[in-house]
Amino acid sequence: MPKSREIHLVGRPSGMPTDANFALVERDIADAADGQVLVQNLYMSVDPAMRPRLTAGQELNEAMGGGALGRVVQSKTDAFQVGDLVSNRLGFREYFVSDGKGLTKLSPDPDLPLTVHMHALGGTGFTAYGGLLHIGGLKDGEQVFVSTAGGAVGSVAAQIAKIKGCYVVGSTGSDDKAAWLRDEVGLDAVINYKTQPIRKALEEATPKGIDVYFDNVGGDHLEAALRRMNTLGRIPVCGFISGYNSGHSPVSNLSNIIYSRVMLRGFVAPDFMHLYGDFQRDMAGWLKAGRVKYQETIREGIANAPHALIGLLGGENAGKMLVKLAE
Ligand SMILES: NC(=O)c1ccc[n+]([C@@H]2O[C@H](COP(=O)([O-])OP(=O)(O)OC[C@H]3O[C@@H](n4cnc5c(N)ncnc54)[C@H](OP(=O)(O)O)[C@@H]3O)[C@@H](O)[C@H]2O)c1
Repeated sequence: MPKSREIHLVGRPSGMPTDANFALVERDIADAADGQVLVQNLYMSVDPAMRPRLTAGQELNEAMGGGALGRVVQSKTDAFQVGDLVSNRLGFREYFVSDGKGLTKLSPDPDLPLTVHMHALGGTGFTAYGGLLHIGGLKDGEQVFVSTAGGAVGSVAAQIAKIKGCYVVGSTGSDDKAAWLRDEVGLDAVINYKTQPIRKALEEATPKGIDVYFDNVGGDHLEAALRRMNTLGRIPVCGFISGYNSGHSPVSNLSNIIYSRVMLRGFVAPDFMHLYGDFQRDMAGWLKAGRVKYQETIREGIANAPHALIGLLGGENAGKMLVKLAE
């Protein structure tokens, strides 16, 4: 019978979460009974959407949830073998017992590192792919702006736009991430919004306006982009991270969408599941050819999961934020 450590939410944050909002709790986990598996999580994903759930949605004094990749270590069902890798939504814990519902077997690509299945070749990559191509209706050679371009979703969206022959501007909050986007990824212009006023910098970086703004931020970034949108431009709204801690992030010029006939549409990845096969084929090819590059920020051990989430919200991550829980 293994012991498992897990992270509980013990108090709701006001603004940026702090250590005091979380507790590390150790529990005994039962062995797998008939029809069940025991899973050991290897990696867990850390995502901005976890922040709104700390305000409402996540129960207090219970293990938190989130995407994870685990290995079956005991199986009492024919559906899974010991050693199978399984994606699951039970992150923030080391072990769990399951009847198999909510587990998806993963056959990792032997030519790519396992962790890419948790970002570029997984959920964040798919969000970027469908959000840009399906919701944003990107056409080859268009003018594109991507915010949080140094992060998991944004870095992939920006690179898909480059592959499609677009002029691409990215914004990020650190000089290191800006240098990576400029020098390694080859974006046409990069804005560090912490050292340059976003509105003026975006105006200078988009002399031909913007056809597609892939919005991960909302607030001041959306406001700046709305001033630059071309007629019949599209804004796939992927996230609103500027408002996740405070609960609000005002935009004063939404009426700009009227005369420019701009389409502004929120989305979630399940909206375009029919594209998943195309995505996997395209993205695996781009990754292997080095046409999509990625960065990872990996924290070690379950005890560091709250710090990883706090760090993500503060911009500490370059690329995908993960926590490694076991080998
Ligand atoms: N719709 C969907 O299905 C879906 C799925 C996944 C993610 N999302 C959304 O996509 C966005 C990116 O997610 P991700 O997983 O790729 O995270 P990420 O970009 O890897 O990490 C979050 C980044 O947001 C930036 N940030 C934090 N506060 C900010 C602010 N006030 N203004 C501007 N940037 C800020 C920070 O980078 P800097 O250093 O650049 O500040 C931080 O590193 C989030 O809004 C998320 O909610 C949506």
